[in-house]
Amino acid sequence: MEFLGKHILSVDQFDRNATEQVFAVAEEMQVYAERKRITRVLEGAILSNMFFEPSTRTRVSFGSAFNLLGGEVRETTEVKDSSLAKGESLYDTARVLSGYSDIIVMRHPEEGSVSEFSEASRVPVINGGDGANEHPSQALLDLYTMKKELGTKEKGLDGLRIALIGDLKNGRAVHSLCKLLSHYQRITFNLIAPQELELSDEIETALIAKGHTIKKHVRLEEGIKDVEIIYVTRTQEERFASQEDADRYKGLFRLNQSIYTEHCAPNTVIMHPLPRDSRKDAQELDIDMNENPNLAIFRQADNGVVIRMALFALVLGVVEEVHNHSQPVTWFSSRL
Ligand code: CP
Repeated sequence: MEFLGKHILSVDQFDRNATEQVFAVAEEMQVYAERKRITRVLEGAILSNMFFEPSTRTRVSFGSAFNLLGGEVRETTEVKDSSLAKGESLYDTARVLSGYSDIIVMRHPEEGSVSEFSEASRVPVINGGDGANEHPSQALLDLYTMKKELGTKEKGLDGLRIALIGDLKNGRAVHSLCKLLSHYQRITFNLIAPQELELSDEIETALIAKGHTIKKHVRLEEGIKDVEIIYVTRTQEERFASQEDADRYKGLFRLNQSIYTEHCAPNTVIMHPLPRDSRKDAQELDIDMNENPNLAIFRQADNGVVIRMALFALVLGVVEEVHNHSQPVTWFSSRL
């Protein structure tokens, strides 16, 4: 895959080689993410970080990633704080913002909106999540996390057995992850979802066509046995017609320490794209698991920074230059 100057809109753009290329660059970025060195390779470059839907991780980690490469970040955080609220089109917004920036990251509630925006942009656009459709950088960081977590157990991604739990219909992170995992060999997907929130037939059919195995479960305890990774998701309540509708599915599957101890194989890795819903009526991933060393959710979130640094470096063509612009840190860092 050619990254230079390209939009990153969908994981459909990535094959296994391109995915591994991102991972290799992410490894190179670790030293900067851990504040062991700094680099100014993108000094003078500007990122427009346009988030027209709520976000904590994706927005801040894309911004931090750009800052860690030496670039500047400009942000809009809601439709109501931008001129989209005055009826400006995505086309005009893209034409204008791409005159102010060297690269744009965008999140928007409508499927296909980031792609539409990119067609009018004069600079590369990265999809930070478009409705229930896709979240490509999340899938890359998820897969990178799986590779690293399994690597500590001397296992690889081929032959992986994974349980996907929750709102598999509306979860864009799950959609992108399934597509990316499909490039590996012999994956077994244990799908645990209410019937109305199952993974789409389109994605299921594509996985089966590539030789992967799909097993459907209605009981959490059955689906989490005999897997190496459990990937929990929250009910995507913002995609439902009403709160009442979403509330019907909240709290249906709750993973906690006692269920984990009783039903999971030792050292099963627990992941979640976050945010987890810790309100009483949801709690799909109980906080009583916080001290479980196999809970990878915060390592997963940390990995978002290096993956997003890698995407910027590849798209802006500075991979070979990063270390040439590096220097020691000058401040005391207590980061572990
Ligand atoms: N995982 C994820 O997309 O988190 P945010 O919504 O906080 O960006």
